[in-house]
Formats: sequence, C-alpha cells, structure tokens
Amino acid sequence: PGALYNEPYRPQFHFSPPKNWMNDPNGLVYENGTYHLFFQQNPTANVAGNLHWGHATSPDLVHWQPQPTALAPDSLGLVFSGSAVLDSANTSGLGRPGQPAPLVALYTAHSTEKEKANRQDVESQCLAYSLDHGQTWTKYAHNPVLKNQGSRDFRDPKVSWHPAQKQWVMALSAHDHVEFYASKNLTSWVKLSDFGQTLGAHGGVWECPDLVAVPDSAGLPHWVLIVNMNPGGPNGGSATQYFVGKFDGKTFSTSQPGTRWLDYGPDNYAGVTWANLPKGSRPTYIGWMSNWEYGQQVPTSPWRSAMTVPRTLTLRPGPRASELLLTSRPVEGLVGRLAEDFVSLPNVQVQGRYDLARHLKHPTGRYTLHFNVPRAQTWAVELSNGKNERVLIGYDHTKKQYYFDRSQSGNVTFAPADKGFTRVAYAPRQARGNAQEIGLVIDAASVELFADGGRTCLTGIFFPSQPFTGLALQAKGLQLPVVEVMGMKSIWEK
Ligand code: FRU
Repeated sequence: PGALYNEPYRPQFHFSPPKNWMNDPNGLVYENGTYHLFFQQNPTANVAGNLHWGHATSPDLVHWQPQPTALAPDSLGLVFSGSAVLDSANTSGLGRPGQPAPLVALYTAHSTEKEKANRQDVESQCLAYSLDHGQTWTKYAHNPVLKNQGSRDFRDPKVSWHPAQKQWVMALSAHDHVEFYASKNLTSWVKLSDFGQTLGAHGGVWECPDLVAVPDSAGLPHWVLIVNMNPGGPNGGSATQYFVGKFDGKTFSTSQPGTRWLDYGPDNYAGVTWANLPKGSRPTYIGWMSNWEYGQQVPTSPWRSAMTVPRTLTLRPGPRASELLLTSRPVEGLVGRLAEDFVSLPNVQVQGRYDLARHLKHPTGRYTLHFNVPRAQTWAVELSNGKNERVLIGYDHTKKQYYFDRSQSGNVTFAPADKGFTRVAYAPRQARGNAQEIGLVIDAASVELFADGGRTCLTGIFFPSQPFTGLALQAKGLQLPVVEVMGMKSIWEK
C-alpha cells in the first residue's frame, strides 16, 4: 500500500481495496494465525461487474494486507458471494498428506449467459479449495455442488460446522426466504428446510444470510439468523435484519415480535461473520460500508467502497427484558491499538457548541469518541471543515431517535436525488437505562455509531471536500461527566 492510500476520502483504518470496485465481504475465515477477508471485486473497473473474489489478510483484525485476487469467473459464471471454512478433518477428501488441511470456499456461480437467455437457473453453488493456507485456490472438478433449485435468486452460501449433528450446514438466500442445506463432505448437499417467507421485512430481495450462535451476556449461546436485504432498509436501500431464535439441526424458528436491524444506517450491507475463530473468541462480523442505491457512484477513485470495522456480536436484553437484541461493538483492541492523541475531558458543559478538536494535538478527521448522556437529552456531534460542510450525528429526544444528517457534508450530488443520499437517517433508541452510552468511530469518510451497548448501530458515509478537522458537541445545557476523544492512527502509513 503506502503512498497509494492517500487519496481524498480514503479510509485510514478501515479496509478498502488499493483500486477498483469492492462489495460484499466473502470467505471470512481464520486459520493459522491469519484472518482472511475475501470480497466481491471487479479487478478491471471501478463499478460492479466482472465479479471475482479479491483478498486481504490480517494478523489482528486491525492491520490489513491486500493480497492477489483469489477466484476468477469460469464457464459457470461470475464468482458471487459465499463463505469459507477450514476442513480440518478432511471431510471433503480434498486434503493431501503432508499439506495443510483444506480451506474450502463455497460461492455462487452467476451465469450471465443464462441470464441473457432469461433462464431461471442462473445461480448455482460451487466449491473451490486451497491447500496452502488460502494463497492459491483450485476449483472443484465437479462444480456445481448444488444446482439451482428453481429460484432465480439462489445465492450467497454461508457454511458452518454443526458438531451436534456432525455435519456442515449451509444457509442460502432464495429470493424471499432462506434455505438450509446439510452435507457430510461439503460436496453433496441435501435440503433441510425453509425460513422466513412470512416473517421479517420483505421490501427487497433476501441476500447473504448467516446462521451464527451468539452468546448472551451470561455466555449462553442462542441462534441468530442474519439476513441482508436489498432494497427496503429502514433508511432506504440495502440493510441487514436479524432474527434471534432456535435451530434444531434442521429448522430455524423464532418468536421475535418484529423486524430488527443489525444496523439502521444507510451504509452497512452484506455483513456476515468469521468462521473457525480461535477458541474463546466472540462472533466477529464485518460489513460492506455502502449501499446499492449509490455505491457505484460515490466520488472515490481509483477504488470504491470500504468495509466497516470488524465488530464483536453479543446478545443483550432489549427494552422488554424478555427480548434479546443483537448488539455490535468494534472488536476488542481495535480502538486501543489505533488510538493516539487520547484526551479524557472531565465535566464537559455544552451550552450551544463545545469544541472538542482543540483538545487534540492534530485533528485529522479520524476519531473515536465515548461519552454517556442522560436519557432525555438532545445532542449532536458535529464534524466540520473550513468549507462550511458538516455531518451531524446525534439524538433527538423529541423523536426518541438517533439520527445522521449528511445533507451538507460536501459532495452530495454524485447520485440522483431520489437515491436518498441527502435524506436524514433515523434509528430508534432500544435501551431501558438512564444513560445513553455512546461510541462513535469516524474515519475520513464514514461514521459508525454504537449506542446503548451496541443495541442501536448507525453507519453512514460522506465525502467532504476537505477533511473534517472540526469536531464539536452541540446541545442546550448539557452536562457530561466525561468525554473521551481519541485521534486515530492510519494503518497504511509506514
Ligand atoms: C449482495 C449481492 C449478493 C451477490 C453479490 C454480487 O450485495 O447482491 O447477493 O452474491 O452481491 O456481487
């Protein structure tokens, strides 16, 4: 990387590809000391199309190293989204004596030829494997391993090992529901069940599902089904809902009362979790920090899109104690390892506007903030520059909603107005406590809000013509016991 990562709007501690188009995270797997991040990539242009799997690796989920493209299209089609697992017992028989256990990727082959011929069986599931810790990949000789079963949308296999049934389980999206399949060897799959046709939000196509066991605060695991959907999100376009429920090895069921969103912001999509994490790790998630409404038009070059920060998932009680909510926070260590320029401001009185940036040695537009606000208070954090551009992220007590306003954030006209880029995004507060616990992660062109222990998340992107070196709190007569502000390092500076 190095010099390449200095362009306007370039995130400095979120992963973005050196150049060209990126969308969904794929093949998230930890193995042999390395976190793998594959992703939907167009290696020849800065818009979607010609989809391959790009690749990056990390020793710690903080620092990322771009790697050569891992999977390329073949006669079966483009390489759409999917997952990867470590086949440590060589259930697939693809392993070889004396070589590392196979890393096995399951992905969707999307045939543009069949698409042109207006056929239904455009998408099928294929397998590729690596015997060198993910450096090089070989396509399975008998692809597809799961033929199209009749749905035009039939994609994004997410595979995990279920020790109780001693089998692999695949969650797959099929237009308006999730289908579950099982396999003993990753190459032959049988259908288990369907989920969701009449549950949750259906304002768009269901994509990129993930069935994952998530512990509650006492450490007891519960099944969560993550379901991405485009469009129809709570603030327009792409978004991620989830269901907390039960999986009996065959069927997923839920008694969740309504729709829940993993992130209410406009710019977190197609997120799923890592496979094969080290013992004792919590489920760890990453999302594509963009939206299909305008992702291909954002004013960045020579690359487009970044990922969210990797996030730890936990279940915590919601407003009704009987209901568990899926909460997110930045992975342990990320903030600590990247924070430089740390200030802890005691007894902050906000009467109108309180300048936070002046307490930092060198404000760069990269910050992490922590503070607790009394429950019934309206406030905002304002990012600004000398060009009269700003972003507001805060809480409106009259609406009882968190919000994100980028209507004056700089370049807001790259996409047609009806794509909603300038619309204010809202998210409900979903906690009972007397204090709003606020965490904000800001990096050049994005903000991620983690409110109330991560019960409400809101992620959004923006494109100011100069970095947001201004950082301030806005409120009427607000008293904060302590505000922590951190300037964040760049992972690309050598
Ligand atoms: C989600 C998605 C997936 C598909 C991929 C194609 O963003 O539409 O369903 O596999 O992107 O790039």
